Amino acid sequence: MTAWWREAAIYQVYVRSFADGNGDGVGDLIGVRDRLPYLKDLGVDAVWLTPFFTSPMADFGYDVADYRDVDPLFGTLADAKALIDEAHDLGLRIIVDIVPNHTSSAHRWFQEALKGEGRQRYHFRDRPNDWESIFGGPAWTQVEDGQWYLHLFDKEQPDLNWDDPEVRAEFDSILRFWLDLGVDGFRIDVAHGMVKPHDLPDIGHSDQIRMIGADVVPYFDNDAVHDIHRHWRHILDSYPGERIGVAEAWAPSPERLALYIRPDELHQAFNFHYLSTPWDAAELRRAVDESLATAASVGAPATWVLSNHDVKRHVTRYGSLARARAAALLTLALPGSAYVYQGEELGLPEVLDLPEEVRRDPQRLRDPDSGRDGCRVPLPWSRDLGWRRPWLPIPPAWGELSVEAQQGAEGSTLELYRSALRLREHLTGDLRWLDAPEGTLVFARGDVVCAVNLTGAPVDFGLTGDLLLSTDVPGAPDSAAWWKVK
Ligand code: NOJ
Repeated sequence: MTAWWREAAIYQVYVRSFADGNGDGVGDLIGVRDRLPYLKDLGVDAVWLTPFFTSPMADFGYDVADYRDVDPLFGTLADAKALIDEAHDLGLRIIVDIVPNHTSSAHRWFQEALKGEGRQRYHFRDRPNDWESIFGGPAWTQVEDGQWYLHLFDKEQPDLNWDDPEVRAEFDSILRFWLDLGVDGFRIDVAHGMVKPHDLPDIGHSDQIRMIGADVVPYFDNDAVHDIHRHWRHILDSYPGERIGVAEAWAPSPERLALYIRPDELHQAFNFHYLSTPWDAAELRRAVDESLATAASVGAPATWVLSNHDVKRHVTRYGSLARARAAALLTLALPGSAYVYQGEELGLPEVLDLPEEVRRDPQRLRDPDSGRDGCRVPLPWSRDLGWRRPWLPIPPAWGELSVEAQQGAEGSTLELYRSALRLREHLTGDLRWLDAPEGTLVFARGDVVCAVNLTGAPVDFGLTGDLLLSTDVPGAPDSAAWWKVK
C-alpha cells in the first residue's frame, strides 16, 4: 500500500481568511469546521491549517505565545478537537503548523528573559552582528539593560536557541500534545533555520535574503538542523497512522532540499523551486525533472506548490487566469503530492490595490511591493461575498468568483479543480516526456497524457483518444488538457 502522503492533495487553509464562523470579520476554526464538506467535495485528502495558537498576531500567528492553546480570535481548544474529529469522520486529515524557530515576544520565556531570567533559551549578545531581518532592518533589537536579542523575522519574534536542551524538550512535548489530540502531521515553519553557527559570523553585505530566497546565509540550512528533524521523525513514527512532517525550508538547491526528506527525516518539503519557475516550457520542464530526480534520490515523493500565503498568487505572477488554470492541470498531473492554496480553486488573483491604511503585513515595511496582504484577502463564498466586515476588504468583483457563482457552473475554475482532483487518482506511474512542439509540455502517466501549451498561439498536439479535461479548447494559447489515450 502506498503511504497516503506520497500522492496526497493537501489544501492550505489560511485560517484568518478562510471562513468566519462567528461574524467578527476574522476567519476561525468554527468557520473551517462548517466548510469541511466543501473541502471533502473539492476532492482533497488533507488540510493544512496555518497557526491558530495564542498569539498577539504581530506576524498573524507565526508569533506564538502559547503553543498548547487556541487564540480566542480563532476559537477554543475544544473547537480544534472537534474540527480534527469531524475532519477524520469525513476522511480528511489535518496538518497543523508548528513554529519552532522563534516564539512571540509575549511568550512566558521571553517575558522572563526580559527580566534577565533564562536568556539562554534565546540568542542574547552584548553586541549585534550584521544579520538582517527577513522583513527588513537589522535582525537585532536592544533590551533595557543594553543586551541585544536575535530575531530573523519581526522584533516580536525572538529566535530560540536550539542548543538549549530545555528548548528541545519543550518542542518534543508540544508535538506530543497535538499528536495526542489527533493531528495527522505538522507543517514545520522555517525548518531550515533553527540552528545557528555558534560564532554568529557576519555576512559582510546587505540585502541578505528574502522570503523563500535561495541564497546561502549562515543562519539557514545549517547541517545540524537535520538532527532535530531526525529526532522528530522518531516521535512521529511512535504514533499510529502515518503522521507526517512537512518542511518549510528555503534551501539553496534541490539537492540541499532533498536532505530534509531522507527516509529518517521529514516526509515532504515544499517545492519552492517549482513555485519560483516562470511560465516557460523549458524552465518548467527542467524544474520538474530536477525535482523528481532529487526527491527520488532519497526515496521521497516530489511535492508541487504554486501559491501560498507568502507569495503573490499565481494568477497574477503568471499574468492571466488562463495560465493559472493550465498550471493547475500541469501541477495536478505530476507524480507526487500537490498543495492547493485556498482560493486558487476559484482563480483568485492577487489584490494589488489594497489601500495603505488596511495593509497589515510586517513585511511591507521592507518595501511596499513585498507585502503579503494581497494574497491573504478573505475567500468569497457567495455573490454577496459572505463576510460581515472582513478584516481585509474583498473586491466586490469577487462576487462573480465566489464559490456560489462557480459551483456547478460549467467551465468554472472551481469545477476544473474538482474534476482534476477527482481524476487525479487515475494518473499513476512515472512521468514520461513525449515529443512536443516548441513551447509546450507533453507527458504521459500510464494511459493519461497531459498536454500544456505555454505559448500565446494555438498548437495542434495531434492527440487522439478521450478528452478527460481541458482548461479551454484543446491546444488553445495558454491552455492544458488531459487525454486518455489507447
Ligand atoms: C514562514 C511563514 O510562512 C511566514 O508567513 C512567516 O512570516 C515566517 N515563516 C516567519 O514565521
